[in-house]
Amino acid sequence: MKTFSLALAAATAAVPAQAALRFGCSTLTIQRLDPLVEPGNIPSAHLHQIVGGNAFNATMEGDVGERGTCTTCTFTEDFSNYWTAVMFFKADNGSYHRVNIMQNTALPNGINGGMTVYYTQQDFSSNGNQKITSFKPGFRMVVGNTAANSRQANGLKFVCLKDKGTRFPELDDFPKMTSQADCPGGIMTVHHFPACWDGKNLDSPDHQSHMYNTVKEAFQNSGPCPASHPIRVPQVAYETLWDTRPFASIWPKDGRNPLVLSNGDVKGYGTHADYLFGWKGDSLQRAMDSQCMFTGCENGNPLKSQAIGPMNSCTVPKLVDENIDGWLPELPGRPGGMPM
Ligand SMILES: *[C@@H]1O[C@H](CO)[C@@H](O)[C@H](O)[C@H]1NC(C)=O
Ligand SMILES: *[C@@H]1O[C@H](CO)[C@@H](O)[C@H](O)[C@H]1NC(C)=O
Repeated sequence: MKTFSLALAAATAAVPAQAALRFGCSTLTIQRLDPLVEPGNIPSAHLHQIVGGNAFNATMEGDVGERGTCTTCTFTEDFSNYWTAVMFFKADNGSYHRVNIMQNTALPNGINGGMTVYYTQQDFSSNGNQKITSFKPGFRMVVGNTAANSRQANGLKFVCLKDKGTRFPELDDFPKMTSQADCPGGIMTVHHFPACWDGKNLDSPDHQSHMYNTVKEAFQNSGPCPASHPIRVPQVAYETLWDTRPFASIWPKDGRNPLVLSNGDVKGYGTHADYLFGWKGDSLQRAMDSQCMFTGCENGNPLKSQAIGPMNSCTVPKLVDENIDGWLPELPGRPGGMPM
């Protein structure tokens, strides 16, 4: 009997845990705040769209997972915050209009804008026989460089959507569009974060060097972690869908790209994203150690989840009092605007 249970335990231990999370988060707020790169600045330099827990603030220290009381994400123990730049459309007269975010495909109907968030292991179906270690309270990271003028790391992409299900090809910059009809379903931005951690630092001066990127394009297998960054953490990725359809009738006739990111980037190489860990207790580790996949992780298997209503109604106060809707003479925080 003893031999049998030992054999069983060994067999169980040898089965790799191959969990993968994919879930929706409604928009929490769209404001000029950046507790990661510009803590305390009200307003920060450029506009962000933010999803996740309501402990979001201009400054965020300590264990966010213990402070949040609601979240715009599916999993109710996830008080992390996830954010990216915002897309704008520049009309021929020089005015800017914010491009709305739309719900992704494969998410429950009724999600208010927001993002799709992934935590995968080596890839969707395997952990590559390695332990995937959860981030720790206080952990944060940035991917991408707002000032970049050429291709950055792997995994920072734009997709020209025929429809919401389009995933390829992945582009390094804005799709070349002569009319809205070139990308009839809008545009998706994709951000894959690095998945190797130095095991010591919750952050670093550039918010990047505590991490190492072995990520390849799309959701392919990420490569082995180097000795400098030996700890394999979940592979975090965001998808954000931008609804460019309302601008069809005023798309520039002269071939000019009308799209610009809120950091003033007209090419798209400055695309970037921010992550601030805030899962409560050991919930993310439990999920990574399980074998659940996507919606199969909901309803306590092993993660607690919620319906669309409470996701959409979780919010935070407006700390920055400025108009970000309608036609604007300049990008928020960027007087002088951008060259046409
Ligand atoms: C944000 O920070 C301010 C100043 O520290 C504080 O008064 C406020 O309660 C915080 N808001 C949240 C939602 O934590
Ligand atoms: C600029 O162009 C847009 C789109 O045609 C228009 O709706 C808006 O009223 C114009 N703004 C100004 C200040 O002329």
